[in-house]
Amino acid sequence: MSEICKNWTQWLKQNRFAGQTPEMIEQTTRWLEAVRDVILVYAELQQHETVIDIGCGTGLLAFKALEMQDCKGKIIFSDMFQDCLDDCKKILDEAGVKEGYEFLQCPVEHINLPESSVHKALMRSVLVHVVNKQIAINEVYRILKPGGKFCAFEPVIRSNTRYWEILDPTHIDRYEDFKKAENEMMSNPQDSLCNFDEKTLKMNLEIAGFTIPEVKLQEVKSNYVVQPNMVREWFVNPPSPNQPSTKERYMRYFDEATVEKYMSDVQNYLTGREISLKTNAVFINATK
Ligand SMILES: C[S@@+](CC[C@H](N)C(=O)[O-])C[C@H]1O[C@@H](n2cnc3c(N)ncnc32)[C@H](O)[C@@H]1O
Repeated sequence: MSEICKNWTQWLKQNRFAGQTPEMIEQTTRWLEAVRDVILVYAELQQHETVIDIGCGTGLLAFKALEMQDCKGKIIFSDMFQDCLDDCKKILDEAGVKEGYEFLQCPVEHINLPESSVHKALMRSVLVHVVNKQIAINEVYRILKPGGKFCAFEPVIRSNTRYWEILDPTHIDRYEDFKKAENEMMSNPQDSLCNFDEKTLKMNLEIAGFTIPEVKLQEVKSNYVVQPNMVREWFVNPPSPNQPSTKERYMRYFDEATVEKYMSDVQNYLTGREISLKTNAVFINATK
């Protein structure tokens, strides 16, 4: 477990915004709500259905689904980590909401529910943390009722802009070595963050049994001016509580002093510059 981030609730509430300006935090929050709303439109929730939010975290999807159902159905807040479920429970208790939901602690690879028991399975940014996506998607398929829907969003990190693409080789020591290391890191089949893309996900869904699953790729371009603290945050903040940071990943290839030098070269080169980044993601809309 990272020293910087102890658990998922901390990551979701603090670490994911690290290095962002207030304006960027506001934009990220609005973007999360927009993603949530697309998933829920796909899901076509009905009031008395049983719906599971798998890897619910701090409840982005589950709370909205509960509101849409007006507490008349059953929303299952499910996560592998108890801290997330405790956080959601605290919010429900404080709001005095007493019905229409349940909690389920289990990994997506072994969902503790009978076959064909839920109408809708919702998910956002969970498969990206699971090494074997096929096992997870098979489980989602198993718990859905025939005609049930799996609606999800996942970032596709391996086709995002890479550091070396926004750097000038003449300003960075050992540019080619770091470029090679970054490209290797992005094609590691054991790394859950980048061992998949839209094509492999579609194949996983078909193998699980989903008929004609829709996997819609979304490419987002963003431009912003790099602030003085941003580069260090990109490198030292872990992508999740149980995964190494980018700095730690580079330290598999280089000693710490070399990685620190790279980080300061990147920081010196990028700070104050306007950069243009491409980030990819997919929306999944699949029916059993
Ligand atoms: C990036 S967060 C997303 C949280 C929430 N879905 C959202 O959209 O804000 C990833 C979530 O997946 C959960 N998670 C990670 N690995 C998991 C696994 N194998 N099974 C179930 N949940 C998992 C984490 O606990 C965390 O809550």
